[in-house]
Amino acid sequence: MDRHSPHDFTAKWAQDVLGEVVVSAKEVHDRVEELGRQITLDYAENPPLLVCVLKGAINFMADLMRAIELPVEVDFMAVSSYGAATKTSGVVRIVKDLDVDLTNRHVVIVEDVVDSGLTLNYLRQYLGARSPASLEVCALLLKEGEQRVEQLLKYVGFTIPADFVVGYGLDVHERYRNLDAIYTYVGEV
Ligand code: IMP
Ligand code: MG
Repeated sequence: MDRHSPHDFTAKWAQDVLGEVVVSAKEVHDRVEELGRQITLDYAENPPLLVCVLKGAINFMADLMRAIELPVEVDFMAVSSYGAATKTSGVVRIVKDLDVDLTNRHVVIVEDVVDSGLTLNYLRQYLGARSPASLEVCALLLKEGEQRVEQLLKYVGFTIPADFVVGYGLDVHERYRNLDAIYTYVGEV
């Protein structure tokens, strides 16, 4: 089957651990195009620096940047807030910092999912201290009712139930990032 088919299907090699499709590949694609159009309008005068939060946001970043019709720049940082498990530890560690200076830049943090919000809260303070002209967030997923920290998210792809999900960049034990749809995970943790 065509992996970009609009019909939901479960990848055979992963079907033992995948539950239902939470967001189909087609829904992801269409929504990312919309977000790209919105960012293109909002930042027409100030092409932003997109900051991808590795690794979970890689798929989203790759598609989003191509949906924006402006001379955007991109950079990457890696943080770790989860150990190997599916519950947040509340402790955020910078694993890789940015290469570029944020002074007077219009910055958009590109995140995969906001769960407790602790990771984003930390990132906002950390990057906000570097004098950007503006600092906004574009999160693909927002987990319903889970936020322990009030979040102002300028762009959100989808609000989803609080279940643990994998696919389109999201992992469990580093796996399943290469799925095109987003699924609940029903395997071992
Ligand atoms: P938070 O600090 O609780 O908001 O967690 C945010 C980070 O935890 C995200 O950037 C993800 O890397 C990871 N995470 C949270 N929920 C999920 C999930 O359902 N699947 C995979 N990773 C998740
Ligand atoms: Mg992660």
